[in-house]
Formats: sequence, C-alpha cells, structure tokens
Amino acid sequence: MNKKKIIILDKTDSTNRHALANFAKIDDGTLILAREQSSGRGRRGRKWVSPPGNIYASFVIKRKLHPAQLTFIGALSALGTLRQYAPALPIWLKWPNDVFVKSLKIAGILSETHSPEGSNKTDGAVIGIGINLNVDKDFFETNNLPGTSVVVETVKHIDIDLFADSLQNNILKTYLTACENPEEIFALWKKENLLLGKEIELVQESGQEIKGVFSDLEKDGSLVLLLSDGKIQKFHSGDVSVKAK
Ligand code: BTN
Repeated sequence: MNKKKIIILDKTDSTNRHALANFAKIDDGTLILAREQSSGRGRRGRKWVSPPGNIYASFVIKRKLHPAQLTFIGALSALGTLRQYAPALPIWLKWPNDVFVKSLKIAGILSETHSPEGSNKTDGAVIGIGINLNVDKDFFETNNLPGTSVVVETVKHIDIDLFADSLQNNILKTYLTACENPEEIFALWKKENLLLGKEIELVQESGQEIKGVFSDLEKDGSLVLLLSDGKIQKFHSGDVSVKAK
C-alpha cells in the first residue's frame, strides 16, 4: 500500500459489487470510483440512487480489522473531506453509518466483507461510500429522499476528481491509524456522534420501535440505550431519530 491507487469507472452497477467480484485482482488500499451507478446498494437492502455528479466509491481493505472499524474509517473520511470543502456546514455523524448536515443525510457508508469462493473465512472487505455533491433539490424531491448535497447547502459546484483525491487521502490516513491505533479511530468516531446523550427513537430491523436515552457507544460500534425502566439494551443496527417531546 505504498502508492495511491485509484480505478475510475464511467458507469457500473455498484462499485461495492465490482470491488467484491474483482477482489483478488485489486490491491489493498485501492479506491474504486464510478461516475454513476445503475444499481447502487444502500444499507438494509435499500437502493442508492446514483446519477452523475456525486461520489460513488469503494475502498478495498485486505488487512484484518474489526468490522466496526470499517464503518468508522468510511464515516470519518467522508466527514473530514466534506468539512474541507464546506467548512461552514454543521456536519455530523448519525449512528450507525450516516453523515448528516443539520437534519438531512448527505452521505452513507455500506461496508461489505469478502470471502474467497468456497470459503466461509473473510479475507478482506470493501468500504462503500456515497456522498451527495452536485445533485440539486429536484433530485431529492423526485426520488422522495430526505437528503441534501453540498451544492444545495452551499451553492458551490464541487470538482469530483479533486474531492475524490482528498477523500482517498483521508481514507488512507484513517486506515493506517485504524491498523496501528484502533482506539484512536473509535474515540474520534464517538466524538462526532451528535445524538449521543439524547432521547431517541430506534427502529429495529423488525420494524419494532424502541425509545430511550442514547447513553453510550461501544468499541464494536453498538449503541447502548437506557430504557425508561432503567434497563440497558444494546443494538448493532437500526434507524435512529430524535424523539419528539
Ligand atoms: C446507505 O446509507 O444506505 C449506504 C449507501 C452506500 C452507497 C455507496 S455508493 C458506493 C458504494 N457502492 C454501492 O453500491 N453502495 C456504496
């Protein structure tokens, strides 16, 4: 992983799928970037609508890392790069793996692990990062998505190649720190989770809603919820919203 490596695709179905399908041929630390995706994958089986103008990237990891560190690397790198390009925006991390501006999502992370064919052992992973840069308000209205982009927030058009280069620098730096000092990356990720300490409503994968105080985050990425009866419950996934008073 001495040299920066990037593979740029004009169009693909999904950079995550591409990276996983070609995993053996791609070096550790390579970034796969697509100008657009026809079948972008989101979390929990959702689609990630991917027209030209945004970042669709997958970073290939071949070193052993705790799966939670994948999300930490992706989220912190997206956050850091967005802050470089739009320093005045209030950008924050929303558990488990979203980047928000105020109350709207601007970026999402989807990490997927890789196992060689016929094996159930993981030999690496890809960190998929989607960042809304240049799509306008119409895009979110037409697709019924409660999101935002850098251009909507700042009226500033972003050069995708320059942004991708900064993103890659940030990912490589964070990846190296995660390998050498995972505690540091966890602490940075925890610090940026703005809803920590707040009363929240968590919708589980089953659709069940549960209210409580978002009291802590654990090193494995799980959310600790303090329930009204004083009990503690931990969650590995779910959608969080702030409880209306
Ligand atoms: C989410 O918030 O649901 C995660 C979205 C992740 C989207 C990115 S775009 C690049 C990479 N390739 C995909 O198919 N998905 C991720």
